[in-house]
Amino acid sequence: MDSAASTAFITFLLLLPRLCASAGDKIELGEQLLPGKPITSDGGAFVLGFFSPSNSTPARQYIGVWYNVPERTVVWVANREAPAIITNQSSSSSSSVPKLALTNDSNLVLSDADGRVLWTTNITTVVPATTTSRPVAELLNTGNLVIRWNGATLWESFDHLTDTFIPNMKVRFNYRTRQSGRIVSWKDSGDPSPGSFSYGVDPDTSLQLLIWNGSKPYWRTTVWTGYLTAAEYLTAAGNMYLNVVDTDEEIYLTLRVSDGASPMRYVITNSGNFQFLSWNMNSSEWNTIYSWPTNECSKYGYCGPYGYCDFTAEPVPTCKCLADFQPASGEEWSRGSFSRGCRRKEALPCGGGEFLALPLMKVPDKWVRKTNLTFDECAAECARNCSCEAYAHAKLSTSSAKGDINRCLLWVGELVDTQMMGQTPRGRAGETLYLRVPAGFASRKARTNVVKIVLPALASSFLFTCILLVCFCKFRDNRRKQRQKRLMTGSVYTSSEFVDENPAKDLEFPSIRFSDIAAATDNFSKPFLIGRGGFGKVYKVTLENGQEVAIKRLSKDSHQGIEEFKNEAILIAKLQHRNLVRLLGCCTEGSEKLLIYEYLANGGLDAILFGMFMSSQPMLLKKNRAW
Ligand SMILES: *[C@@H]1O[C@H](CO)[C@@H](O)[C@H](O)[C@H]1NC(C)=O
Ligand SMILES: *[C@@H]1O[C@H](CO)[C@@H](O)[C@H](O)[C@H]1NC(C)=O
Ligand SMILES: *[C@@H]1O[C@H](CO)[C@@H](O)[C@H](O)[C@H]1NC(C)=O
Ligand SMILES: *[C@@H]1O[C@H](CO)[C@@H](O)[C@H](O)[C@H]1NC(C)=O
Ligand SMILES: *[C@@H]1O[C@H](CO)[C@@H](O)[C@H](O)[C@H]1NC(C)=O
Ligand SMILES: *[C@@H]1O[C@H](CO)[C@@H](O)[C@H](O)[C@H]1NC(C)=O
Ligand SMILES: *[C@@H]1O[C@H](CO)[C@@H](O)[C@H](O)[C@H]1NC(C)=O
Repeated sequence: MDSAASTAFITFLLLLPRLCASAGDKIELGEQLLPGKPITSDGGAFVLGFFSPSNSTPARQYIGVWYNVPERTVVWVANREAPAIITNQSSSSSSSVPKLALTNDSNLVLSDADGRVLWTTNITTVVPATTTSRPVAELLNTGNLVIRWNGATLWESFDHLTDTFIPNMKVRFNYRTRQSGRIVSWKDSGDPSPGSFSYGVDPDTSLQLLIWNGSKPYWRTTVWTGYLTAAEYLTAAGNMYLNVVDTDEEIYLTLRVSDGASPMRYVITNSGNFQFLSWNMNSSEWNTIYSWPTNECSKYGYCGPYGYCDFTAEPVPTCKCLADFQPASGEEWSRGSFSRGCRRKEALPCGGGEFLALPLMKVPDKWVRKTNLTFDECAAECARNCSCEAYAHAKLSTSSAKGDINRCLLWVGELVDTQMMGQTPRGRAGETLYLRVPAGFASRKARTNVVKIVLPALASSFLFTCILLVCFCKFRDNRRKQRQKRLMTGSVYTSSEFVDENPAKDLEFPSIRFSDIAAATDNFSKPFLIGRGGFGKVYKVTLENGQEVAIKRLSKDSHQGIEEFKNEAILIAKLQHRNLVRLLGCCTEGSEKLLIYEYLANGGLDAILFGMFMSSQPMLLKKNRAW
């Protein structure tokens, strides 16, 4: 560094604290935010200010919150539909510019150069005259703009979604009003007013999420099977924790990230893509990690009624007809026009036929949900109804079921928007769809094609269509006794065995008694210790049947709470990948938390336990095909 540069640098360092202090992160009562004078959150992650997305004249000015990265990335816009127009005359005098001010009825009000109100928060709380406390608007370091008064949050921008989800925002669905938080695309890159595409929870079912083009579905996630309540993703940008919170009033999904994670966002673009992007500090650009729909075939209803998009087809996903169906028009189908879909090869007599299990499917849209039916009752209900073409059943784990944990879906009309998910880079996905076929068909099929049908369905995807699998480490005594017996006889379950294609079955991992583990490791003595990391120590033990397992004992001061502990268990359960370790069981007792893994002799274990889970190496970023 030459001396001029170093002097400049030192001057910069000296100035830094004062610059930060003067920037501020609040608008106090009576203060105004003016064009060209943005404020920055305390922590520096986000900026609130006026921006102009296009270089049109006269310039249209919007109030927005953007990521504080070199490429201005707006995540929230206040006045999407009501820009402030800056004309030559108005910009010449500083008294006549648009401004955002906090009024003493605790509302933020955006007014244009002529004083007309363009946008306002609609807070009706009346501030009592006696109080000395004043309202304040503050840009939090999460990107949330909040108005607080007397310790209460009166308004927050996170309740008013635009086109972007960022960590800590909530994707809500209200059971009573059946209203869902939807993000709506910009019209185009220069115009934040609402465009034609939106993304959110399907208000008709609350069991799936959709991208809409106007009012028409454009793309659909898989249907919620209810396994998911929390999950963790390790990405190069940092760890992400996904939580589903289900109350009587609403269900919401929220994403948190570890401290120091790179900026990340989900956005619905004006061309209809729902994308997950992460800021790459090295190249100073946004990397698109995932983008849905991934291809034509996966668009809503692309393969027509009774057709499905086969994601396992090579080299690209292709439309096919469901078993025992053929193209409605062979000629159109061969030309690549699938909209007319497929029809049955032979008509079925009323109530006739049997059901073929199609695993790993994104089940069709437009079902009828029957309440309070077990798997068998669900199957019987479909079988005895002439017009029932298919059924699928899952057990929901949350109270969204309102006392009814059975999710029995029947299809009495055309089967639209079906997809074979197959094996994804993050595990197998989808669920089993039971399709009505002619009697004897399923058994004929089974003889010729056993392998395809026996693959167990592993996962369901819900929020952001991440593929999720859940291990619920529940520690109820009654169940525990049964499992201990299994461990003691040496027949430890592997996690894949717990995830059967019949979701009604027990999905829980064995919970193993702490004292048994202490005994097996000679009270966690040195000879059994094979490694240690930031979160604790890892021991190797040989079970009665000769199977070698690794036991990770989380250190008591790791501050890994029960939620994070569950998250790790869930994460590992999801990663049924040949290069990854299997989780066999877990144990928590008092402050002790242990995870029991398959032991990989060839050194893979260290890399995984110490590399991936303890220092969170990039993982998902390496894989880029997903849906
Ligand atoms: C605004 O000012 C520029 C020059 O400063 C001029 O070229 C332009 O015509 C003016 N526009 C209007 C609308 O007055
Ligand atoms: C704001 O408060 C002042 C007194 O502090 C009062 O005179 C004025 O009417 C208030 N304005 C509004 C818009 O409530
Ligand atoms: C505030 O309320 C008015 C009238 O109910 C409504 O037209 C306007 O859209 C609301 N503004 C916001 C920002 O919610
Ligand atoms: C969205 O819908 C509009 C109107 O129906 C249509 O013109 C447009 O092509 C659709 N966009 C896509 C990407 O399908
Ligand atoms: C940025 O570069 C560093 C050092 O080269 C590397 O360790 C890190 O993984 C890179 N980050 C990303 C997001 O590519
Ligand atoms: C389901 O069945 C249980 C017990 O039979 C009953 O208490 C509950 O009210 C039923 N729920 C619905 C939604 O029918
Ligand atoms: C079949 O089920 C559908 C949906 O539940 C129902 O509307 C229809 O009446 C049933 N048909 C018969 C014959 O039971």
